[in-house]
Amino acid sequence: MHISQIQLKNFRGYYSLKLDFSSGINVFIGKNASGKTNLLEALHYLSLTKSFKGVEDKELIKNKESKAIINAEVIENTKKTRIDVLINEKGKKILINDKGVNKLSSLNKFVNVIVFEPQDVNIFKDLPKVRRNYLDINISKLNPLYNELIYKVDNLLKERNEILKQDVIDFNQLDIITLELIKEEKQIIEMREKFINDLNVVVNKVVKNLKEENNKIKIVYFPFIKLSKNYLNEATELYKSNLENDIKRKATNIGIHREDFILNLNGMNIATNGSQGENRLLAICLKLSPYFLVDEKSKHPIIALDDVLSELDNNHQKKLLGFLEKLDQVFITTTNINIKNASIYEIDNHHAIRRTK
Ligand SMILES: Nc1ncnc2c1ncn2[C@@H]1O[C@H](COP(=O)(O)OP(=O)(O)OP(=O)(O)O)[C@@H](O)[C@H]1O
Ligand SMILES: [Mg+2]
Repeated sequence: MHISQIQLKNFRGYYSLKLDFSSGINVFIGKNASGKTNLLEALHYLSLTKSFKGVEDKELIKNKESKAIINAEVIENTKKTRIDVLINEKGKKILINDKGVNKLSSLNKFVNVIVFEPQDVNIFKDLPKVRRNYLDINISKLNPLYNELIYKVDNLLKERNEILKQDVIDFNQLDIITLELIKEEKQIIEMREKFINDLNVVVNKVVKNLKEENNKIKIVYFPFIKLSKNYLNEATELYKSNLENDIKRKATNIGIHREDFILNLNGMNIATNGSQGENRLLAICLKLSPYFLVDEKSKHPIIALDDVLSELDNNHQKKLLGFLEKLDQVFITTTNINIKNASIYEIDNHHAIRRTK
């Protein structure tokens, strides 16, 4: 799929902008604070209806204005989809081909954007919740049921923690909630296991393209409990043996909300043993890999890389660009790097001019 056009009104620093995009590589080149990342934020908003920077929607509305608008056209094979987003103080409204969308999570069926932002280079060293977030976003995109399960588990955890906070704990109620929780968690572990298995296959292929040496990558997932035929009993026992600790801390200390994964490069954990460059390159590989997990070619995600090139040496820059050329549509921001075989957009003070190819 690719985004063929975008229009912004009062979005971030943009007053009014209309741009046509090509498939292949699109480059936003401009000085610091010119509006490059703001543009990627708009593209990402179309997919997940939020900024990738973790800010509230109101930050996206141009200073002193009351609403922000994003209009876009997305092409999948020969099918064109129009997406209209309105953000104001009250909330957001999204139309797909002029029809209102209730379930915002369904939007990424129409447009799927993967953003790599500069801080993603730390994904392996960061807190576990950053890696869980990676799992949650990518698995939800492949299977909408996953999102529903995470939502259910979040609510069950809230209920369970509420019970744990009471002066007099209702153990009957606690057992009921714990059992419900355990059942939902099983499905999440299964989906996470499957995703990591699939990811291990593709990530090795991606790494072969971007790194010169022969490297063996293994992503290792740590479920809070191993799945077995006896799962229900074993999980119940595990929650029981942790109950004292849960009561002391007035919170649930085990579960899928505490899980993590690591990436081993030739048998060594990249977070503790990898160089900064290796962390950067493998973080890019990890973020790009879900592209290849989408079977239907016409549904391949759009890749947006914010400020990635400047941190790589010349050789790795070339390898990455050569690799990106093969993808459906890619957006790259840079302050100074000249990229061949790409559509170039000069960004200056939140205005953009397309330089012909
Ligand atoms: N809601 C808003 N209203 C008006 N201006 C905004 C808003 N949000 C951000 N900006 C402006 O946008 C600018 C940042 O734009 P952006 O992050 O896209 O820059 P950039 O080109 O990616 O720069 P860099 O190369 O430094 O990463 C800032 O100067 C900021 O003041
Ligand atoms: Mg930027």
